[in-house]
This record gives sequence, C-alpha cells and structure tokens, in this order.
Amino acid sequence: MRQPGLSVVTLEVNGEPRKLLVASNQTLLDALRATLGLTGTKTGCDMGDCGACTVLVDGVPLLSCITLAAGMEGCSVETVEGTAPSPIHLAFDDQVAAQCGYCTPGFVMALTALFRDHPRASEEEIRHCLGANICRCTGYTKILAAALQAQALLLEETR
Ligand code: FES
Ligand code: FES
Repeated sequence: MRQPGLSVVTLEVNGEPRKLLVASNQTLLDALRATLGLTGTKTGCDMGDCGACTVLVDGVPLLSCITLAAGMEGCSVETVEGTAPSPIHLAFDDQVAAQCGYCTPGFVMALTALFRDHPRASEEEIRHCLGANICRCTGYTKILAAALQAQALLLEETR
C-alpha cells in the first residue's frame, strides 16, 4: 500500500509559532490533538456534521476533522485552549450550559468568531450560529442562555 507523504508545515497555534511534520492525509484535528496535545478540540462525528472539532483558522470557524493539516502553511489557528478565560467560558459556567461538556469547545469557538465579527448579533443570528453545532445532551436552552449572557458581558467590556 502507498504510504502518505510527509511535509513540514509552519503555522501559528494560539499565538505561538509551530513547525509540524504532517502526513498528507492527516487532519488538522489529529495534528492538534495527537501531535500538539491540544485535546480541548473534540472528535465527535469525524465527518463534518457535529461541530465538536471547530477551531478558528485565520479567524474563520473551520471543522478540523475535515481539514488537512498540510493545508495550514502560514495560517493562524486558534483552539479552545487559546480562548480561555473569556466571558464566553464564564457564561457557560454560570449558566451550567454543559452536561458532559463534550460539545462545549465547539460552541465556544463558534461563538468566539460570531461575537468578534458581529458583537451585536441578534438572537436569531446567534441561534443560527449555534445551529451548526450538535449537543447530544440536548442542552440547547442553557447554551442559548450562555451565548446571550456572553454577548452581554462582551459588550459590557467594550463600554
Ligand atoms: Fe468534526 Fe463532528 S468531529 S464535525
Ligand atoms: Fe454533552 Fe453537549 S453537553 S454533548
């Protein structure tokens, strides 16, 4: 069987310059978790359906389970580890918006991007954003409450 090729990728992860040796078929999710030990980003469906693996690449939410690490040359990647502490984490905690917590990093990253780009997003826009992520514990009411509280805290910070 043909072995996947290896390449060196230079990127930034949570503000730190990193150089990674990656296989041509290695996902960004695997590189983050297995190579860099950043296990906050979760493996859910592993096929682009659940949002648990969401990270920000150059500020844009991407599903790291269907993104190749080899394509990250020169990119800036942010994971949930790089976002804490923040009002979003605080609000999830305050609203007890996690049951098992497996989906939480994905929701945090999606909301991080939303509130950076649209600090005054409407509730409908927030609901739309949350719709890209799945919570198997069905904690959506509390997750929405956490998102609204996080938005209010972030707006307060900028006053
Ligand atoms: Fe990537 Fe589900 S693990 S979308
Ligand atoms: Fe368990 Fe969302 S809190 S999957």
